Amino acid sequence: MTETIIKSAVLETTAVRPEQYPTAGLPEIAIIGKSNVGKSSFINTMAGRKGLARTSGAPGKTRVINFYNIDGRLRFVDLPGYGYAKVSRDESAKWQKMIEGYLRGRKTLVLVIFLLDIRHEPSANDKMMADWFLHYGHNIQYVATKSDKITRSALQKNLSIIRKSIAPEGLGRGREILPFSSLTRAGREELWEVLQNMEALNPGAE
Ligand code: GTP
Ligand code: MG
Repeated sequence: MTETIIKSAVLETTAVRPEQYPTAGLPEIAIIGKSNVGKSSFINTMAGRKGLARTSGAPGKTRVINFYNIDGRLRFVDLPGYGYAKVSRDESAKWQKMIEGYLRGRKTLVLVIFLLDIRHEPSANDKMMADWFLHYGHNIQYVATKSDKITRSALQKNLSIIRKSIAPEGLGRGREILPFSSLTRAGREELWEVLQNMEALNPGAE
């Protein structure tokens, strides 16, 4: 498979409130998932830039909304992770307000990429979040991260467990849970293919 080359990838804006968001216009793809699941690493891998989004072994690294402009064509929106045990109730309420503000109000949001760790069964929190996005009518693409951490033979089994748990009613039109690794870049081209095939990213294309 030929590699998708990204010519330009830049952090356009960092925001906590809607008035700080960049001007709506480009289609946006939000990256969501539990703290430490690999959201920032996912953006770096998709962009083909190692240090674009800051990553960390300690959960709770990303605490703001970061908008990354990719080739002037789309934006990846890195949202702070949920389920980080050490945050106070106050911070948790702030998080909720920040995420909700973005997910409810953003007209240019065309897809939510929902990351789940391939090694674990989705948590109650994951399921609640998935239901919530569906409730707001968002298109979801599930991605199972850290696929390098399990054996090939465990891969299909784990994907099937995750699928039954997170989307017992189905994943929606032709969608699959895609395994992904920021370490080996497995799944990168498959993900780009999903994005390239989206009508919202190819206005006018058949
Ligand atoms: P928060 O910003 O805290 O919500 O975390 P995040 O979801 O942005 O996770 P981040 O990308 O910072 O990655 C968390 C840790 O997991 C880091 O130590 C990464 O190096 C590691 N990691 C991320 N993706 C992968 C992967 O595909 N394979 C392996 N082996 N490690 C990964
Ligand atoms: Mg992060």
